[in-house]
Amino acid sequence: MLSSPSALPQASQDKEADSGQQAFNNACRTCHMVREGDNRLGPNLHKIVGRKAGSLPNYAYSSAMKEAGLVWDEEKLDRFIANPDQVVPGNSMKPFGGLSSSDDRKKIIAFLARQQ
Ligand code: HEC
Repeated sequence: MLSSPSALPQASQDKEADSGQQAFNNACRTCHMVREGDNRLGPNLHKIVGRKAGSLPNYAYSSAMKEAGLVWDEEKLDRFIANPDQVVPGNSMKPFGGLSSSDDRKKIIAFLARQQ
């Protein structure tokens, strides 16, 4: 295990942040904003990590999402984005069919976790 030169970590973190934003833009931004209060077709994802599913007061969720009874953490988000119907059967996040690349999911979740 070699320690990396001190200039590198910051640079690679920035790059990671960019690619997380890009992956989010590609897969999610048609329907979701990360700005607080900015609901589109989907609810805004501001502070989604740690938020109770279906809990924004000003968004019309499906009853499946409202009654999901779960709190979004990284692990649940990962499973939900991979296959929404498996985590919240009957949800209305359509026609999103799931994101099969675990690499992209990881990047997107890291990006979302920073929107606090
Ligand atoms: C085609 C539009 C669309 C796309 C694309 C989409 N979503 Fe959604 N999303 C929705 C809708 C609509 C809901 C509300 C679902 C419900 O009420 O059942 C939702 C709900 C969610 C929720 C639950 C929010 C809450 O407040 O409980 C999360 C988390 C989420 N989406 C994440 C994502 C992520 C991450 C992506 C990209 C990988 C994505 N979505 C792509 C439309 C979309």
